Amino acid sequence: MLDQIRQPVQEHLDRFNALMRETMACDNTYINAITGHILAQPGKQMRPLLVLLAAGASGGVAPRTHVGAALVEMMHIASLVHDDVVDEAFLRRGQLSVNALWRSRVAVLYGDFLMSRAFSLTASHEAHDMGDEIIRALGELCKGELVQQEHLGKMDMTEEVYFNIIRSKTASLLAACGRIGALSAGAPAEVVQRMGQFGECIGMAFQVKDDMLDYDPAVDTGKPACADLRERKITLPLLALLARSGAIQRKTIIRQVADIRNVERNVERIRQQVLTSGAMEDARRTMEEFEQKAFEALGNCPSSPYTKPLHAYARYILEREK
Ligand code: IPE
Ligand code: IPE
Ligand code: MG
Ligand code: MG
Repeated sequence: MLDQIRQPVQEHLDRFNALMRETMACDNTYINAITGHILAQPGKQMRPLLVLLAAGASGGVAPRTHVGAALVEMMHIASLVHDDVVDEAFLRRGQLSVNALWRSRVAVLYGDFLMSRAFSLTASHEAHDMGDEIIRALGELCKGELVQQEHLGKMDMTEEVYFNIIRSKTASLLAACGRIGALSAGAPAEVVQRMGQFGECIGMAFQVKDDMLDYDPAVDTGKPACADLRERKITLPLLALLARSGAIQRKTIIRQVADIRNVERNVERIRQQVLTSGAMEDARRTMEEFEQKAFEALGNCPSSPYTKPLHAYARYILEREK
């Protein structure tokens, strides 16, 4: 499915990958070893793909579009390297994370190194408009990750707080991808705004799906299973379970989550309840609502040969298993 979506921009994806590799290369073998480890498992590259499709739909991919694609993917990788330190996660993309192999302090510094490389890329191409977009998204991303820490394990978590967190930590970067793609194609402000809206809605669906996958025992995401629950991160499937529970059951669940670090079997207990209570179906419906909003944003853009791939892109986000 992903190959089919990539097909119209495959040549541009290759060029973006070459530019990104070149930008990440360094004269130091220690740093290059980390880069080599990361690039050995490139991930889905959903963000650069969105930059390219949005540019295609907004007037056409330009050389600046490749710069935008490299910029967003490098910022994304840096955020993952840092995120695995914060989440104490030892698996990423099916291999050991940077913090697992080189220790957290190296991962922190490497993430900073990568961000600096990304900003240098925008500066050397005078892509200041894209730089502004990414700075804004990065600020939001950090804010989202911080607010998530603030609420870790606090059972007063609400859907509203959850949506604010994921809008900041995930949707802001996908919104920037839509906007950067349109900007690179020289699109009018109205189209830039719509593409940003598409990216934001699809970004919300993306994180809901990520949070659902965390509970799904049938799929291998290449990341630690049930990591959110173990971290006492209260995400939408658990919120949906709580919403469906009566007062007594709610109390029990809250106690089980509170004890989760000491009582390993609570992980499986809560997971089973999430899977059998209809909570996953609730989360799926929410995800579909975001997808509908994304389609509405797209409906207000001029139609192009990229409209269909953008629809398929949205569908993939909902159906993906990693
Ligand atoms: C993971 O993003 C981080 C989230 C925002 C959920 P991806 O699922 O896009 O990660 P890769 O790049 O494909 O590994
Ligand atoms: C998204 O949150 C991470 C970023 C914004 C970088 P998660 O912590 O859920 O992402 P994964 O599951 O580790 O990829
Ligand atoms: Mg994480
Ligand atoms: Mg996750």
